Amino acid sequence: MSTVLINCGPIVHVDSNVPITGQDMLDDKWIIAKGEAIVIEDSQIKDIGNSLEILDDYQSHDSNEVNIIDVYGKAIIPGIIDSHTHMVWGGDRSREVRWKQQGNTYSDIANMGGGIVSTVNSTRSLSEADLYAIAKQRMMHALKNGTTHIETKSGYGLDTKTEMKLLRVAKQLRDDNITPSVDSTWLGAHAIPDNHTLDSYTEEIITQQLPHVAEAKLARSADVFCEPGWFGIDESEQILKAAKSHGMNLRMHIDEFSDGGGGELAAKLRVDTADHAHYTSEENRDKMTKAEVSTGFLPGTPYSMGSDWPDFNSMIENNHLWTIATDFNPNNQILSMPFVASCIVQRCGVDPLAALVASTINPSFTTPHPTGMRHGVIAKGAVANLNILNSKHWESWCLTPGHSPISANILNGQYNNYEY
Ligand code: NIG
Ligand code: FE
Repeated sequence: MSTVLINCGPIVHVDSNVPITGQDMLDDKWIIAKGEAIVIEDSQIKDIGNSLEILDDYQSHDSNEVNIIDVYGKAIIPGIIDSHTHMVWGGDRSREVRWKQQGNTYSDIANMGGGIVSTVNSTRSLSEADLYAIAKQRMMHALKNGTTHIETKSGYGLDTKTEMKLLRVAKQLRDDNITPSVDSTWLGAHAIPDNHTLDSYTEEIITQQLPHVAEAKLARSADVFCEPGWFGIDESEQILKAAKSHGMNLRMHIDEFSDGGGGELAAKLRVDTADHAHYTSEENRDKMTKAEVSTGFLPGTPYSMGSDWPDFNSMIENNHLWTIATDFNPNNQILSMPFVASCIVQRCGVDPLAALVASTINPSFTTPHPTGMRHGVIAKGAVANLNILNSKHWESWCLTPGHSPISANILNGQYNNYEY
């Protein structure tokens, strides 16, 4: 079955074989002028070319074999990649917003019985089927907002049994063809569970949890919440090195609340991406760049926590490689990549094209598509994941923070229409 999109508006293809950095992030060469058509066969982009010529070729085909869709000049962007989320958990931490407003910090709230460990308690009590149903609904919301691929982490189990349960749910989501594709990460080192010390839990992670996870091949990568007060540099290094010895890829949470030196460790271990990285020093950012470590900014977190913003534009000026992602989690329930892009574009002066590069092609290198095909680009041979916007202007992709800018999208060649 083929789908042909005709009369496309501007197409932002971002078709690059390497991540895009510096002033290249703002270059109009990534945009094809209006009037083109996109041909999709099964789950792959087959051709991009002149609308009239392609229409000529396909008009004579049997309508059961070809679905011709007139886009009426609407702008088209690639399927968006959300490269850092926590999708699988249950419970509700809404009451923490008032605790925060009363002056309690993130760690105060953890000590008051809220925070990560409270989500762990609610998550442990839910069945696999319940968790799957909850996470699937979240994934479908993300898809309506343009996300076609999601990296998701465990981390609300904090014991072998529950971490494995969360990773099995992620696998179920991965095998499900109607939700965005899934790249699964094990985050056993997310917090210290009750009745453990940092040392005893680090030991348990390395000797018990990790071998189970690695043997079951349920996660492509391992992640650690490396932050003063959670996992320090030494524990993070031990856990990540152990994960590497089991053949896993590495990711990190670093410098969310202060500069704890996680950037230096990220560079030393050459992890794929070090995320949050809000308070990372310029010296450590340079080390990360030299080691080809991507910085994963999570603008929803400062938005939800009411803190200031990192300096995104200095990343462009200094040619650092960076991405953005939602960090959807119980403390930051944002499933919309266009919303987090709006934060950096409308609040921090980042060019909307740079924000799109940071949401598509750049994260495609830290979270590959499960088929091995290219994604996050509109190019021949790439997976057929793309978004048709409501507007003829591609910039609109991140300018409607209260609602989705997407009129329809294509996921693995499958057309979903959201117009009503
Ligand atoms: O990436 N900071 C650590 N982990 C999550 C938050 C988890 C939570 O508060 O439940 C994050 O922001
Ligand atoms: Fe996170």
